[in-house]
Amino acid sequence: MTLKTEVLKPDADGIATAAGLLAAGALVSFPTETVYGLGADARNGKAVAGIYQAKGRPSFNPLIVHCADAAMARTFGVWNAPAETLARAFWPGPLTMVLPLVPGHGLSSLVTAGLDTVALRVPRHPAAQRLLRAFGGPLAAPSANPSGRISATTAAHVLAGLGGRIAAVLDDGPCPVGLESTIVGLAGPTPVLLRAGGVAAEEIEAVLGAPLAVDDGAEIIAPGQLASHYAPEASVRLNATTARGAEVHLGFGPMDCDLNLSPSGDLAEAAANLFEYLHRLDATGAAIAVAPIPETGLGLAINDRLRRAAAPRD
Ligand code: TXA
Ligand code: MG
Repeated sequence: MTLKTEVLKPDADGIATAAGLLAAGALVSFPTETVYGLGADARNGKAVAGIYQAKGRPSFNPLIVHCADAAMARTFGVWNAPAETLARAFWPGPLTMVLPLVPGHGLSSLVTAGLDTVALRVPRHPAAQRLLRAFGGPLAAPSANPSGRISATTAAHVLAGLGGRIAAVLDDGPCPVGLESTIVGLAGPTPVLLRAGGVAAEEIEAVLGAPLAVDDGAEIIAPGQLASHYAPEASVRLNATTARGAEVHLGFGPMDCDLNLSPSGDLAEAAANLFEYLHRLDATGAAIAVAPIPETGLGLAINDRLRRAAAPRD
């Protein structure tokens, strides 16, 4: 499907159009002080699935949830003392904090890739700020580049990579920082540097008055890594056209089953439901049989996730 990607100005009209498109579940790229983000309503699973579709990403990675201010961020992440300190010092700005999810957060489980933590950021770019306020809710936004390509720091980069695949780009010139946000993990006992970025680690340590643990990939979990992703307790069997014995059956397309990712066979709907349905079936305690999912488009990321869930574990 080819869209005509609108180029919007960061004036009142452009912001209102962008906010309206986002509210309708469309994808809009917007500038932040770090890089251009590819935004979707973080509460709308199908919209978030569209991000993966547009980027051509063959796997699901948890996404950063962009908020207008710390008050909005607190409705999604469980606050603690270091979060308070860092938010005061660096928000709005190029700092992302990973915190435990607040119960009843309302975010799509595709945003967190089924994890029980969420990455939160309050950007300071004026156009991002105005858009978040006009939209009035959380925006999931990875960098606005096709999978495997470098991040976009101008609207021209966004159009070159994603033109025809997204509804609009809000063009406000080049991004001043040009480097992604620093990610600090605050969901464990000590603050951890998960990704270096726009705020120097030394500045964060100075404000915290303590050194940051460094993600060494061993004990602590790196962003986007296999180990950080939600794995069901139950065993998972793939390409199952029917359930055997006591298995619960996760379906796709028209069929009889316990839960159906998309009765109509829509891959975006299936992606939007994937983590939530795996959690629900896992809670039954039974083994999970999963119907075949086509290896095309979003099916690649869905199957990647399912293969990890089905892989033997220690
Ligand atoms: O500057 C930025 O951060 C840009 C702009 C658009 O805000 N966004 C960005 O998003 O770089 P993305 O999706 O390209 O990178 C997000 C990183 C990924 O490495 C992801 O694994 C990590 O954040 N992440 C997201 N949620 C996480 C979580 N709950 N736990 C650990 N890492 C998480
Ligand atoms: Mg990126």
